Amino acid sequence: MKGVILAGGTGSRLYPLTRITNKHLLPIFDRPMIAWAIEAVVQAGIEEVMLVTGGTHAGEFLRLLGNGHDYGLERLLYAYQERPGGIAEALGLAERFVGDDPVLVMLADNIVERSLRGVVQGFETQGRGARVVLSEVGDPVHLRHLGVPAFSADGRIERILEKPEQPPSPYAVTGIYCYDAEVFDVVHRLRPSARGELEITDVNNWYVEQGRMAFDVLEGFWGDAGESIEAYWAVNDFVRAHGANKG
Ligand code: G1P
Repeated sequence: MKGVILAGGTGSRLYPLTRITNKHLLPIFDRPMIAWAIEAVVQAGIEEVMLVTGGTHAGEFLRLLGNGHDYGLERLLYAYQERPGGIAEALGLAERFVGDDPVLVMLADNIVERSLRGVVQGFETQGRGARVVLSEVGDPVHLRHLGVPAFSADGRIERILEKPEQPPSPYAVTGIYCYDAEVFDVVHRLRPSARGELEITDVNNWYVEQGRMAFDVLEGFWGDAGESIEAYWAVNDFVRAHGANKG
């Protein structure tokens, strides 16, 4: 299984911190944010990763991460996103790197307390389709800033709503996804959303419609450090007190 870590975007919700750097280079406790995502992917058993970034600070990732060997990676490749065109567009840049392999995709501002190994193993058993990782958030105000699944009576995901006014469940769809290689055909067929981006939720809903979407519910803490300044500090406080990526 290959890994794709997405570290682009303007980070506008963290302005002015992100006017002078890429969001994923900001510190989370004792290291730059991106290092936690790399660690999570390595710990899940993945050895080959493509990092997709953009903007004016792309070179700093190379200085920080180099060829990835110090972080336990066999191969670390980089792709450059010319403009912030959405998460799904960024994923599309990894098409040739991923080839026919299954892929774990992680948004680099997501921090997890516990290992993602079970998610990867679950997808290996599943074999094809897609798998999203949910986290119980509860607070509807918070859920309005995230992707939220709606469930059918028999407990399957029947739709994912992006930033819903009325969250249909207490779960967030985190920025951690597994896909089979068909995902790139799906990305090619996408149309930009109202905000002019290719949305990962549209990719996920395609798999939902095909009946090929599975999910895991994370145990332990999950945070999106890019969601707001408050969320950034909540993640920092958590990681400082409890750590992250624990076996
Ligand atoms: C993205 C996804 C959203 C998901 C979130 C998790 O949102 O679109 O479904 O819940 O990541 O971090 P964004 O942070 O780009 O607004």
